[in-house]
Amino acid sequence: MSEAASTSGKVLGPVIFLGAPGAGKGTQSKKFVEMYGVPQISTGDILREHVSAGTALGRQAKEIMDRGELVSDKIVCMMVETRLSQPDCDRGFILDGFPRTLEQAKWLDGVLAAKTYEGKSLAPVVVDFEVSYNQLFKRLTGRRSCPTCGRIYNVYFQPPRVPETCDIDCSKLVTRKDDSEEAISVRLKSYEEQTRPLVEYYRQQGRLHVINGEESSEAVTKQALAALEADRR
Ligand code: AP5
Repeated sequence: MSEAASTSGKVLGPVIFLGAPGAGKGTQSKKFVEMYGVPQISTGDILREHVSAGTALGRQAKEIMDRGELVSDKIVCMMVETRLSQPDCDRGFILDGFPRTLEQAKWLDGVLAAKTYEGKSLAPVVVDFEVSYNQLFKRLTGRRSCPTCGRIYNVYFQPPRVPETCDIDCSKLVTRKDDSEEAISVRLKSYEEQTRPLVEYYRQQGRLHVINGEESSEAVTKQALAALEADRR
């Protein structure tokens, strides 16, 4: 039986994909969306949509994101609250890039404690993708994505069939502005200072699954799947 067939229809509940920039959270989220039929909630994607649409929030966030710094907890929590209130989150969801500070994690605890799935309250499953600094750097400088379908590529590890062109819809691939070497250094530093403490936070809650994010994308999916299924048994 395929992974998608064996997981379809199950209540997944809340899942948090934790990891440094470039750890593979977005790549893996897209696979799990297909397998479980639940939405990926990427705070980075939502912010980038605001930037593209030129909203007041997007104008406020743009320079902060381009520098590689974190947007304020208040703005990000407000965005997540709005997204979680939509009905497609009822069977579960994958949080990609949220929470990223202790304040965000504590806020989320409060929200999840009040939310029920088929009458039951479910604690989140937290999967932490561990990847070394050098590998993260190479993954981020080599990342390209499709502006039309969102598929993520990597010129070193997961190249498109035709250079700079999406395999699915032939769009010209784009490089994120914050994938410059300067912004990557700031992002990795803010991960170490503000987000890494969440690993300990969720370990103490007994919610944490640490996996080796440095393996092939397929091997990482297997590890993450095993973590989710173990927790939901
Ligand atoms: P966001 O968009 O969340 O960026 P990020 O956390 O920096 O994470 P990335 O999207 O860069 O990496 P990823 O782990 O998803 O890796 P991917 O799968 O793409 O945030 C952007 C900005 O928004 C932040 O800097 C901040 O300003 C703001 N923001 C967002 N959320 C916020 C929050 N909660 N609070 C405050 N501010 C917030 O993979 C990377 C590359 O590696 C790809 O090319 C991929 O093809 C390749 N790859 C993936 N897996 C593998 C593998 N196993 N082997 C080889 N290559 C691989």
